[in-house]
Amino acid sequence: MCMRKLMTTAVFAGMAALSLVPSAFADDALYKSLGQKKAIVLVVDEFVGRVAGDSRINSFFKADVADPAKLKKFKANLVDQICEAAGGPCKYKGKSMKDAHKGMGISGADFNALVEDLVGALDKYKVKEADKKALLGVLGPMQKDIVEK
Ligand code: HEM
Repeated sequence: MCMRKLMTTAVFAGMAALSLVPSAFADDALYKSLGQKKAIVLVVDEFVGRVAGDSRINSFFKADVADPAKLKKFKANLVDQICEAAGGPCKYKGKSMKDAHKGMGISGADFNALVEDLVGALDKYKVKEADKKALLGVLGPMQKDIVEK
């Protein structure tokens, strides 16, 4: 390789390494704007309540609704997942989205119904349009790991 090309390669490698630095300090703007963990807990409570009352999809959650300990764990996992996805300090320790939903036969319509319930919860707490979009933008791509039909 000629010297010039080598230097260009080195510069690009350096830039790539530098661009990794900010991601080590996760951007927590969305997390802060949402109102941090306290607000996420409220939204998740409202969201799960809506899902439990949603006859389109609540049959999926029968086991959770019937068992308070299971429901509590599920909510805590959701809080951690949303908190982390928003750039907050939480760490989601549950299963991957693929493993968590494997074999459930979730359809695109089921997915949309659940998103509707989430939007309802976000609206109840007057979450800003931009924050709603940003959050749905992080969760949306998970659809491919969740929907099976
Ligand atoms: C963006 C959309 C979704 C997200 C972010 C999400 C997130 C999660 C999380 C974090 C868990 C817990 C995993 C664990 O405990 O290790 C979970 C489990 C589950 N999800 Fe989803 N999910 C989504 C969509 C759906 C949909 C559309 C359905 C069905 C209509 C569904 C049904 C379930 C059920 C039945 C469980 C098992 C609950 C339990 O383990 O107690 N999910 N989901």
